[in-house]
Amino acid sequence: MATAEQIKSLINSHFNGSDERFATIALQIAAHEARSGRTTVAEEIKRAIDHSKSKTIKLNPLQKDLQGLIIESIPEKRMNELVISKEIKKRLERILTEYKQRHKLQKFGLSHRRKILLSGPPGTGKTMTASVLANEMQLPLFIVSMDKMVTKYMGETGAKLRLIFDAIKERNGIYLFDEFDAIGAERGNENEVGEMRRVLNAFLQFIENDFSESLIIAATNNLSVLDPALFRRFDDVIYFKNPDTTEATLLLKNLLGLFIGTIKPETIAKEIEGLSHAEISLGCIDAIKDAILADKKVVDKKTLLSMIQDRHHIHSKTNLNGQTNPIP
Ligand SMILES: Nc1ncnc2c1ncn2[C@@H]1O[C@H](COP(=O)(O)OP(=O)(O)O)[C@@H](O)[C@H]1O
Ligand SMILES: [Mg+2]
Repeated sequence: MATAEQIKSLINSHFNGSDERFATIALQIAAHEARSGRTTVAEEIKRAIDHSKSKTIKLNPLQKDLQGLIIESIPEKRMNELVISKEIKKRLERILTEYKQRHKLQKFGLSHRRKILLSGPPGTGKTMTASVLANEMQLPLFIVSMDKMVTKYMGETGAKLRLIFDAIKERNGIYLFDEFDAIGAERGNENEVGEMRRVLNAFLQFIENDFSESLIIAATNNLSVLDPALFRRFDDVIYFKNPDTTEATLLLKNLLGLFIGTIKPETIAKEIEGLSHAEISLGCIDAIKDAILADKKVVDKKTLLSMIQDRHHIHSKTNLNGQTNPIP
C-alpha cells in the first residue's frame, strides 16, 4: 500500500497542477508495490501512467498544404512547472492578462501584446513557455521549425511563410517560430545567405501586417545573429538563462519529488551551476531511474552527483568551439 506521505504528495501535486510530479510519485508507488510482491498492482499503475501520457486530444487536421510546415502540439506544460525568474514570470503574466482582457483594449484601438521574442541558451524553457502560454490561454500550439523550413523549402520559403501567416489569421492559436536564428545566421554558401535575407525580409513584412488575435512567438538560441530590424517588430523580448542557485534548488525539488529523500537540494545547487534546466532535468531522471532499478525508494546523493557530472561532461563536449549546444 502507498504510504500516507505518498498519498499526501499525490493530492498536492494534483491540486498544484504538476502532472510530471504526479507521475513521478505514482511511479514510486508502483515501485513500492513491486518490491512488496504485488506485481500486478505495480503493472496496473504503470499502465495507467503510460495510458494517460499517450492520451491524445483530437486535433483538427491542418490544411493539406500546411502539413509538414507546421506541427500542432498538445500544450501540456503548466505555469507552476516552469522554473523562471520573477522578472520573466511578471512578463508572462502581463501577456496573459492582456490576452484575457483584449476586448477592453480593442475598444480603445489597442492590441494585446502578441508578438513575442524569446531568447536564451538551449534547454532553458523557451519551447516550454510557449506550451505553458497555450495551456493558460486554452489555445492550440502550432510549431514552425524555421531551420527545417529554410533547408527543406529552399527557394520557396516566402510562399510558405505566406501560407503560415494566412493560417495565423484564420485559426486562432499560438504560433511558435522555433530555431528562429536559422533565418538570421550568415552561413552556408552565397545562395543560402541570399535566401535567408529574403526570408527575413518576408517575415518582417508579414509580422508587421499581422493584426490577428493569434500569439506569434519566435524563439532563438542566438540573439546576436539576428538582424536588429527584427526587434522593433516584437511587443516584448524575453531573455532566458540557465538557472541560478535558487532556481536550481527549486528545480531539483520539483523534479525529484519524493525521490529526494533526505538530500538537501541547496547542497547540490552549486554542483549544477552552468547546466541548463533541461540538462538538470535529464540528470535527475537518470538518478530516479537508477533508484527504481535498484529497488530503492529514494535517490542516492552520490549517484545524483555522478549523473550531474555526466551532464557537465556532455555539456562541455557539445559546447566545444562555441558550437550551439544541441541538447535537448
Ligand atoms: N525553465 C524551466 N523550468 C522547468 N523545466 C524546464 C525549464 N526549461 C527547460 N526545462 C525542461 O527541459 C525541457 C526542454 O526545455 P525547452 O523548453 O525545450 O528548452 P528550449 O526551448 O529553451 O531549448 C522541458 O521540457 C523541461 O522538461
Ligand atoms: Mg526549444
